[in-house]
Amino acid sequence: MRFGYFDDTHREYVITTPKTPYPWINYLGSENFFALVSHRAGGYCFYRDARLRRLMRYRYNNVPTDVGGRYFYINDGGEVWNPSFAPTNTALDAFECRHGLGYTRITGERKGVRASLLMLVPTGHTAEIHQLTLKNESSDVKNLKVFSLIEWCLWNAYDDMTNYQRNFSTGEVEIEKNGATLYHKTEYRERRDHYAFYNVNADVAGYDTDRESFLGLYNEWGEPQVPVKGQSSNSVASGWQPIASHGLDVKLAPGETKTFVFTLGYVEVPRDQKWEKPGIINKKPAHDLIAKFSKPEQVDAAMKALADHWSKLLSNYSIESGDEKLNRTVNIWNPYQCMVTFNMSRSASYFETGIGRGMGFRDSNQDLLGFVHLVPERARERIIDIASTQFPDGSAYHQYQPLTKRGNNDVGSGFNDDPLWLIFGVAAYIRETGDYAILDEQVPYDNDPKTATSLFEHLKRSFNHVLNNLGPHGLPLIGRADWNDCLNLNCFSETPDESFQTTGNRVGRTAESVFIAGMFVGVAPDYAYLAEKKGFADEAKKARAESAKMTDVVLKDGWDGEWFLRAYDFFGKKVGSKENKEAQIFIEPQGFCVMAGIGVEGGQAKKALDAVKERLDTKYGIVLNNPPYTEYHVELGEISSYPPGYKENAGIFCHNNPWVIIAETVIGRGDRAFEYWKKIAPAYLEEQSEVHRLEPYVYAQMIAGKDAVRHGEAKNSWLTGTAAWNFVAIAHYLLGVRPDFDGLRVHPCLGSEVGKFTVTRKCRGAEYRIHVKNSGQSGSAPKLTVDGKPIAGDLVPYAKAGSTVIVECEV
Ligand code: GLC
Ligand code: GLC
Repeated sequence: MRFGYFDDTHREYVITTPKTPYPWINYLGSENFFALVSHRAGGYCFYRDARLRRLMRYRYNNVPTDVGGRYFYINDGGEVWNPSFAPTNTALDAFECRHGLGYTRITGERKGVRASLLMLVPTGHTAEIHQLTLKNESSDVKNLKVFSLIEWCLWNAYDDMTNYQRNFSTGEVEIEKNGATLYHKTEYRERRDHYAFYNVNADVAGYDTDRESFLGLYNEWGEPQVPVKGQSSNSVASGWQPIASHGLDVKLAPGETKTFVFTLGYVEVPRDQKWEKPGIINKKPAHDLIAKFSKPEQVDAAMKALADHWSKLLSNYSIESGDEKLNRTVNIWNPYQCMVTFNMSRSASYFETGIGRGMGFRDSNQDLLGFVHLVPERARERIIDIASTQFPDGSAYHQYQPLTKRGNNDVGSGFNDDPLWLIFGVAAYIRETGDYAILDEQVPYDNDPKTATSLFEHLKRSFNHVLNNLGPHGLPLIGRADWNDCLNLNCFSETPDESFQTTGNRVGRTAESVFIAGMFVGVAPDYAYLAEKKGFADEAKKARAESAKMTDVVLKDGWDGEWFLRAYDFFGKKVGSKENKEAQIFIEPQGFCVMAGIGVEGGQAKKALDAVKERLDTKYGIVLNNPPYTEYHVELGEISSYPPGYKENAGIFCHNNPWVIIAETVIGRGDRAFEYWKKIAPAYLEEQSEVHRLEPYVYAQMIAGKDAVRHGEAKNSWLTGTAAWNFVAIAHYLLGVRPDFDGLRVHPCLGSEVGKFTVTRKCRGAEYRIHVKNSGQSGSAPKLTVDGKPIAGDLVPYAKAGSTVIVECEV
């Protein structure tokens, strides 16, 4: 069952009912100011940090779900309704929500009044614009009373939710132009040099800034006293809960349309210019910002700029094929999600509250893989930020805070896969750009400038961190966990309130990870290549030798007979082996070891992937492990804390499915790779939205596995490494167009379903048009001609910036 449809021409998903199976959201903003907006106008916005600079209040895990947003109440002859349906839930004659790239437009219609609400964050500005267009489609004159409403968050979202003894007394506002501009200035009198405001470009009939005066103390959001009465109360908040609401009297003749622009802005003021006069804030920066968007033409221009911005970004990789689901995924929604994930890391979604996790070292490096072709300069900056938090011994803080860019001591370090992801990220960046100079950048350790070395030295310490931390079999020690945050083999937690992520009750140098071994072998060729490039031939030689050695170790002690083992636990017992009662096989090492090429020659790779098909594949994707753990195992940690079929205990992790998809292409089985991909790619799941429940335009982190009660149901959409890895899988390996150090590799492998297709790829200033005739002979070597001349192999040499290269590919 569907709840909307894709409008590819406008690059929009169009939701046609307010009653989707879960709030389906979008993101506004892509620089410093961001907003989340649901199809019912729910959500909030913030400046840079979702915890410390939150403008709007939002209550997570609320009843009913998704309350708090930008609401417009329309009182038409005594009946109150919202174009976004919420929060009054008054029936609408028509409803539509269009989520587009960086904007959302919600239209509701009732009794001849059509109200359309466009929301966007204009590029280059720190404001959310709400443009409300009201049209009278009836034959009567309409006298509408219209009320805007947002509730302010007192900046620190965590404190705002918890510290009532203080913050019920701190709220302060200012009112200007009879209420057309409402200022939120809580804590501005002391250490904050920023305030927020909500303006409308029209004369108002009244305003409110105090929530209780607007709603009534015991009323819900759907029965607010002021809109019901049809009159603002001109309340002035003092403490309690400041809000901003404009009251507008709107008279519309039959057929008439009126448009209002509301600006919800954030400004910072230099400390010595904070005040206009004692107690009165300096409003100049707000006035400047308001002036930029006070006319509908200015909003049109901002929309045009946004569209151009995205057209430019998306043109870096695009496909034309006969499969429209494939096209929209690759051309629009997957790169869009990669951008959002890159911006937000794992901070603010409808599953992440924006007050918890910082930027993950591992997560952010992986996000780069799907983002680097969009804005390489920002990827470069991110790499330097991440590397600056690394420890001198090559290990890494697991997370860092985006505002301070410092490592997060609460979570600390010890996730032994982390350092290797830095090499993956840097290699992806250099492949895209050819910017080897980044390796010479001086980058500190743990943000201490005195310790700075070249970035290459950071990579060296990353690589050697693995070699310095080998266990009894010669496999890498796992530390707190590897990619699977929940496989905590040194944790042994018996106390309910301990964090699995940070508790390490036994200091063991026994628990080993086959997954990290696969990563090590997988990244070694890149590391060796970069070492050679920098003139460290000995280091390159050593890396290759260590990688060969590790490959032998994996094939000897990391191989279970039919598939790769997952790990050895604290006691040296196998994890992910046929000898275990539960969780005999895990997805991660099968995907990563084969991606690294381990066992491809000897046939183990094929065996391992056949075992994945047989034991882990389901109708909705590949589960993480099988059989699931049914009991808590203190020696394994969080993984066994989840009920069977959810999350890391046999859920379908859409993040690691692409490893198997890529692995299938490594052994040339494109049909199977494409089939796996389609099972989790959201556009293909649209028809099953009632089962999947989340947005059909973005990936979710997890879909409940076959052992779960609610098999097929997704959770945790948007902010997940799934976005980047699936982009890599489909764009780089199935469609097969990927930048390499010395040229653009063209090697499609996706079976026979998609016959002819064209990929247009911009890279290092040149444009490549790659016409593929795909017979479906997956695994066969492609035949390429470049500008009419046949070439040997699959590497198209990089062309001069500015040139266009025509590639014909037959496979
Ligand atoms: C979450 C984390 C990621 C981890 C994965 C598996 O997606 O963000 O870092 O690798 O879970 O545990
Ligand atoms: C929990 C989740 C895992 C996530 C981690 C982040 O362990 O299961 O997916 O990576 O929290 O801290």
